[in-house]
Amino acid sequence: MAYNRLTADSILFFESVIGQEFVHTDTENLSRCASDQTEDLAFPPEVVLRPETAADISRIVRYCNEHLIPVTTRGAGTGLSGGALPVFGGVCLDTSRLNKILKIDKRNFQVTTEPGVITQVLQDTLHAEGLYYPPDPASKGSCFIGGNIAENSGGPHAVKYGVVKDYVLNLEVVMADGSIIWTGANVLKNATGYNLTQLLVGSEGTLGIVTKIVLRTIPAVQYDVVMLVPFRSAAEACEAVNAVFLAGFIPSAIEFMERDALDWAMQYVGDNSIKVAPDTQAHLLIELDGNVMDELHRDAESITQVLQGFDIGEVLFADDHAQKQNLWNLRRKVGEAVKRNSTYKEEDTVVPRAELPALLETVKRIGEKYGFKSVCYGHAGDGNLHVNIVKGDMDEEAWHTGLLEAIRELFTEVVRLGGTISGEHGIGWVQAPYMDIAFNQTVLDLMENIKLLFDPNRILNPGKIFKSQNR
Ligand code: LAC
Ligand code: ZN
Repeated sequence: MAYNRLTADSILFFESVIGQEFVHTDTENLSRCASDQTEDLAFPPEVVLRPETAADISRIVRYCNEHLIPVTTRGAGTGLSGGALPVFGGVCLDTSRLNKILKIDKRNFQVTTEPGVITQVLQDTLHAEGLYYPPDPASKGSCFIGGNIAENSGGPHAVKYGVVKDYVLNLEVVMADGSIIWTGANVLKNATGYNLTQLLVGSEGTLGIVTKIVLRTIPAVQYDVVMLVPFRSAAEACEAVNAVFLAGFIPSAIEFMERDALDWAMQYVGDNSIKVAPDTQAHLLIELDGNVMDELHRDAESITQVLQGFDIGEVLFADDHAQKQNLWNLRRKVGEAVKRNSTYKEEDTVVPRAELPALLETVKRIGEKYGFKSVCYGHAGDGNLHVNIVKGDMDEEAWHTGLLEAIRELFTEVVRLGGTISGEHGIGWVQAPYMDIAFNQTVLDLMENIKLLFDPNRILNPGKIFKSQNR
């Protein structure tokens, strides 16, 4: 590893830029920033810095570039691929003080925000103005919008409204050499040169540090209908998803949960309000939204008819706002619930929607071959299946070595189905060893050359996306 360790001089320099009170070397801060929500991984940084402005970040990054010190940018630490782990130590750049919504341009349906704003706070603030910013990862109550940009997050509403990339118009970015740029313009159409905005979205802190974000929004939607549909066969639940689209509907969410996913979420939040019949294997949680209530009811009825072509139990329609919230809360808690239940690894597979049944079948077949149990759930309408592999009583050998082979086989099959290895969690640290399954060497070289153009000394979030960047 050719990076330099921090010195007493480095700390003095950082203190001179942002003030002593925002330079942290205490154990509590170092251990807080050593982990995100990815498995039980921990890589402590050498220092945690909490700057407040792009100008300060520029000075910090320029210094780190000159001194070959790694800089890992951190949002709220809710990531699921290890994107915020400072795997080579160095600086953790904590963005929590860049927490201002700078401007709501209601006339143009745009918002300019700093990266350290909690996604739900941004959504609620916009909603109060009659505006809607749809991307809502399960962690929306705690994740930062900056992290969402870094990982190109999705969430349940992506199926109708798209993912983060579909809303980003323009970004202010601190480059590795400390220069500050804007990537685009605050416009809805842009055919002006290369699309650097989209290159930065999903680049996981490896190309630059985003300090301002301009997002487009849409008019707030008035009504929704939420229904929970039990299936006796999980495979049929996956087939039913595409049947809904083929019948001409685009729900605002259509989420798949295997039985254990819902059971464990109910146990985790201490809620047993939903009675799950013993022969239920999976559920679809379906939401429709719009501004005309009658249309929503009519569509819900037509969708129910489509679903009745499958072996379903009694459909639960949420009566009121509280029940809708309750169902959504259970769905959002699945990830945490699985984590509570067992050591686990979470994969974020995605295939073309019609291949979802084949994906589920593949997961279970590989699980049997390698002896692992999985809990699957996720954004079925996007063909995006979260595969939580639970350790349960697997022995250490099988968990640490057998599983790597199993995941490789799973990803190879996913790509064969026309899919790829991450839909919305990013590659980060934990999926980097598998990038060769998604891309051939020519593509990997192209990506790596782009990385080097932006960051010739590889100080920005090293070890992420490409295994070969480790040094
Ligand atoms: C979810 C997160 C894990 O969909 O992406 O719950
Ligand atoms: Zn998800």
